[in-house]
Amino acid sequence: MSALIEVKGLDKAFGGVHAIEGLSFSVEAGQIYSVIGPNGAGKTTLFNLITGLYTPTAGEIKLNGENIVNIPPNKLAERGMCRTFQQMQICMNMTALENVMLGRHLQLKSNFLTTLLRLPSLLKDEADCRDHAIELMKFVGCGDYIETEASAMSYGALKRLEIARALAAEPKVVLLDEPAAGLNSVETAELEELLKKIAAQGITVVLVEHDMKMVMGISDHILVINYGRKLAEGTPEEIRNNPDVIAAYLGG
Ligand SMILES: Nc1ncnc2c1ncn2[C@@H]1O[C@H](COP(=O)(O)OP(=O)(O)OP(=O)(O)O)[C@@H](O)[C@H]1O
Ligand SMILES: [Mg+2]
Repeated sequence: MSALIEVKGLDKAFGGVHAIEGLSFSVEAGQIYSVIGPNGAGKTTLFNLITGLYTPTAGEIKLNGENIVNIPPNKLAERGMCRTFQQMQICMNMTALENVMLGRHLQLKSNFLTTLLRLPSLLKDEADCRDHAIELMKFVGCGDYIETEASAMSYGALKRLEIARALAAEPKVVLLDEPAAGLNSVETAELEELLKKIAAQGITVVLVEHDMKMVMGISDHILVINYGRKLAEGTPEEIRNNPDVIAAYLGG
């Protein structure tokens, strides 16, 4: 059986800066797979490559055994890959529910002609989309904020709302870029539970995160990158005890 995501010999250079260099790894379906590394290591660049925002300088990226280099983000969402961003992407003047519904429309093709003609099938779709968004908001713990304007929500609730938005397109895999950044310890614990719940639904979670306690607690597998290269990979135990990781990162 092939891996869900397979990366081989991946390279991304920005002028003279090699943000990602010779990186190979694979993510098995059903895992919570974490990518860690110091600031500037290339974690977000890696997500931008995998999700189609950047074109690699060299290398392969496969989703379910199929090449996905040069496939744009919305097409990848149709194939089951969605993400959140390190910089929050919430529309503050919309309600929480509208943000989640927008997630589905932005990530999947809304058939423009159907929209123009206001076909009955579309109205049914809208109602289904709304029901599904409400379910998702409850799932992430935002059930009390359905009609709340996003600007009135706490930072912690907005971070969970972003995850609901990524889930709105019914992905097989979600890539989350620092979902715990800026959260307090209670909110982080809630987030941990949420990520476990997502994985329990059979959705693969790829996580970039600086919170080591969380990463060590929930990951099936951890990839450590430094200066765009693989420093180590393995189970949380293996990573915790890896001398290179301790020297270059955890011990720093
Ligand atoms: N669009 C870009 N143009 C030029 N350089 C870039 C671009 N994106 C990233 N870089 C560079 O690539 C390197 C990796 O950056 P990246 O944002 O991927 O790191 P990161 O691991 O996500 O860091 P952090 O933990 O701070 O979020 C940095 O040197 C950064 O300056
Ligand atoms: Mg980053």
